[in-house]
Amino acid sequence: MNDKLAGLSQTQLDAHWMPYTGNRQFKRDPRMITAADGCYFTSADGRQIFDGLSGLWTCGAGHNRKEIAKAINQQLETLDFAPSFQFGHPGSFKLAERITRLMPEGLNRVFFTNSGSEAVETSLKIARAYWRKRGLASKTKLIGRSKGYHGVNFGGVSVGGIGANRAIYGPALSTAHLPHTLLPENRFSRGQPEYGAHLAESLLEIIELHDASNIAAVIVEPMAGSAGILPPPEGYLQRLRDICEQHQILLIFDEVITAFGRLGTATGAELFGVVPDIINIAKQLTNGVIPMGATVVQQTIYETFMQQGGADYQLELPHGYTYSAHPVACAAALATLELLERDNLFKHSAELAYLLEEYIHQLSNLPLVYDIRNCGLAAALTIERAPGEPLLHPFRIALKMWEKGFYVRYSGDTIQLGMPFITRREEIDGLVNALAESVLEVANGQ
Ligand SMILES: Cc1ncc(COP(=O)(O)O)c(C=O)c1O
Repeated sequence: MNDKLAGLSQTQLDAHWMPYTGNRQFKRDPRMITAADGCYFTSADGRQIFDGLSGLWTCGAGHNRKEIAKAINQQLETLDFAPSFQFGHPGSFKLAERITRLMPEGLNRVFFTNSGSEAVETSLKIARAYWRKRGLASKTKLIGRSKGYHGVNFGGVSVGGIGANRAIYGPALSTAHLPHTLLPENRFSRGQPEYGAHLAESLLEIIELHDASNIAAVIVEPMAGSAGILPPPEGYLQRLRDICEQHQILLIFDEVITAFGRLGTATGAELFGVVPDIINIAKQLTNGVIPMGATVVQQTIYETFMQQGGADYQLELPHGYTYSAHPVACAAALATLELLERDNLFKHSAELAYLLEEYIHQLSNLPLVYDIRNCGLAAALTIERAPGEPLLHPFRIALKMWEKGFYVRYSGDTIQLGMPFITRREEIDGLVNALAESVLEVANGQ
């Protein structure tokens, strides 16, 4: 029996249509994970694999945290489920208040979802409904940004800016897109590039074309993650904020990756010093152990819905999920936020970010490395394309890393890194050395 299969039969392998995966290649050569602890996965063939992406940007506090497991178990034995519509349970209110303490001032009303994608949809629906409640029903258009990623549901795909995620699904919602901020002038920038704030002015062109009276919101990731770590040029987000303010357009920050420590702060809004109207969160909220997301809005938005809500037993917002604020997810999130604070993990992440910047830029002279970017405890390499096969090189590099005992993400033409906040210096060093070797091997056709 091939131990890489973890004892699974071919029929079992075939039954699961895996997400965002080359299913045929995976099922020919599975990369099966059977356990995790701290910064390491165990593979089915018994190897320890360093988790170079904190799961999927989720597990910054490391895997198998007993504090979170204990909270989940206790919750399961006390209240396993409570209806989320019309009835409540204490955990969700405690968690909502706990989250607001980490948000910029004014963002203090929390709507729970089960994923980043659902948080995005929730934010877009709230934005449109808000203007209708304010008597401005024509404000419906949503503005995204090229290379943006906002999950996989129709709203998120519509404002998203990664062509491959949109191409095969037909017409989307009525949107427009800002240009992305990945400029050739900024190759090999460390942290935020100095050049590029002028790109925010494109919003004025979009407003001129569509008119602010038709635009509900602009949504951006403060640091674009999935497209390969694009930190905002200095001054860019502030300029977006100012333009939105002047034209009565809501600004949504999609902080599904950046919230709760990835940038060494509670949010990207905090790091970049710009306060949006709405923030979407997920991933690190429960340290990845239970699906959960949320949309956090300015109090004034919430109050508008309350004031325009009709009789007080009526729904102010006809929206929500069966599993919104699931008691077990709330317990996991409360334990996670407690742990992040108790162990000072935002600070750890910020300290490691300097090391990552120093190490990763040592790869800039390697063949195939077209660009390197970093921001907080996140970094990406853009890899030159193989003739006729634009995605082949990153795929091959990531597989070599897996063979060497390191999990990294390959997506589009990039390799992405985002290690746990509890990583040790030697582990970053080891990861970056292995990456250098892998890039060289692929460049040499090995
Ligand atoms: C910025 C951003 N928004 C939304 C999502 C979607 O989150 P989920 O996969 O939990 O639906 C992601 C996932 O990577 C993301 O990075």
